[in-house]
Amino acid sequence: MNTTLVPLNNSEADMGFIIHEEMVAFGEVTHIQVAGEMYVTVGVQKAKLTTEDIRFLGGKLRQALQKYARYTTATIDFGILHSSCNYLEIDEVVTAFVEGWHLGGYAFLTYKKEQPKKEVRLQFESATYEVAVKQGEIRAEAVSVARDLCNEPANKLTPAVYVDTLQQLFHQTAVSVEIIETDQLIARGFEPTAIVGAGSQYPPKVAILTLKNNDTKHIALVGKGVTFDSGGTNVKTGSNIGEMKMDMGGSAAVVGAMKLLADSNSPVYVTAILPLVTNVAGKDSYLPSDVLTYRNGLTVEVGNTDAEGRLVLADGILYAQEMGADTIIDIATLTGTIGQALGLKTAGIFSNQEDNLWSYKTLGEQTGDYVWPMPITSDYQTYIDSNTADVNNMSTSPFGGAITAAVFLQNFVEEDKKWIHIDMANTVRPWKEEGYYVTGAAGFGVRLLAEIVRSEISCIAGR
Ligand code: BES
Ligand code: ZN
Ligand code: ZN
Repeated sequence: MNTTLVPLNNSEADMGFIIHEEMVAFGEVTHIQVAGEMYVTVGVQKAKLTTEDIRFLGGKLRQALQKYARYTTATIDFGILHSSCNYLEIDEVVTAFVEGWHLGGYAFLTYKKEQPKKEVRLQFESATYEVAVKQGEIRAEAVSVARDLCNEPANKLTPAVYVDTLQQLFHQTAVSVEIIETDQLIARGFEPTAIVGAGSQYPPKVAILTLKNNDTKHIALVGKGVTFDSGGTNVKTGSNIGEMKMDMGGSAAVVGAMKLLADSNSPVYVTAILPLVTNVAGKDSYLPSDVLTYRNGLTVEVGNTDAEGRLVLADGILYAQEMGADTIIDIATLTGTIGQALGLKTAGIFSNQEDNLWSYKTLGEQTGDYVWPMPITSDYQTYIDSNTADVNNMSTSPFGGAITAAVFLQNFVEEDKKWIHIDMANTVRPWKEEGYYVTGAAGFGVRLLAEIVRSEISCIAGR
């Protein structure tokens, strides 16, 4: 059975049925039958609807319809929806709705007997939206890839399985995949990554993904790919460390962004560097007080094996520079402290070119991947001084842990490079399972990274 989706922003609207005030409240869903026809209405009343609101409504409607077996198709009149937000382009509205619709239907059922939920097909009253619909589907698919990776348990998504998954995902696409196997890591200069991953029965690897659709500016994306973080020798003691299966959320965001950029044929040159390790305690694990030597000669004393993310990210950042990247963007579930600072909705964003941070915040609002500018207070370098090596991976201060992590990383960034760092430890899961966010991972960072990359390309002239 088909149902017509009717966005409502006015209790006086003449829709041929009675509309009560509460039906127009934002996000309120009501099912109505009029003369044998089914209508599902959704309230869109708000001072100013944003694209994120439209995504929310798409997800909300999808979930409302999925509960009922009788609905197999739904027709939405985008004209009505657009009239509530005519300051947005109609294409933006369609893309956002379709994106939310598909993400709202996401479920991770790989290890359940339960079959995937039935499809509710979205119908459009006009073919003119085809391109916008396709873009919404591409965006949702890319975010779903990141959600899938994060939702996989650590015994299933080992570094070896991860690289196989990448090879399948990008087979016959514009993205080339190179894997640096465990026994090649040291020869290829990734000794710290090899050492951080040495304690696990699942050996470490590094994946390099390249998308070269353009030759002007080379951007590197570095994603933390810790498939499980038990803390290593400094073992975590919390009650719910199962959460740490998502400690590869940064790498998942990068994979999703590469897919999004590739599937939309974006004219970009991007290299993704993904150190994939499992941080556990074992006879071969690295130890607090160990010294790691990086490819540029910099040495790091391991103050704490649980601060492993910055160790592998530093390896990725150095490799990105060796490959000649102009701009380096890293993303990681790096510190618990970022959640103390910003709560669970907004990730922290840092850059050695601070003036750009507000524009990334705006991109975050547009994409739904919210970020807030954070400072790199270089005076805190004293907190990570080491008696033995050039720098320590653990701060002596109990304060500002997300900032000292960023200060640590800056030690590896060459002065003439543009560098952006995103700490997403607090946003790898949705802050609320609502709208287009469902149980499990949020798929955070995919859309933001893709938009930052695109914005970098379009501002080449201003560099
Ligand atoms: N993976 C964690 C950070 C994290 C915490 C992610 C909570 C998601 C939720 C990271 O490797 C870590 O353990 N960081 C430590 C650093 C400390 C030892 C300097 C932290 O944040 O406590
Ligand atoms: Zn850790
Ligand atoms: Zn970690």
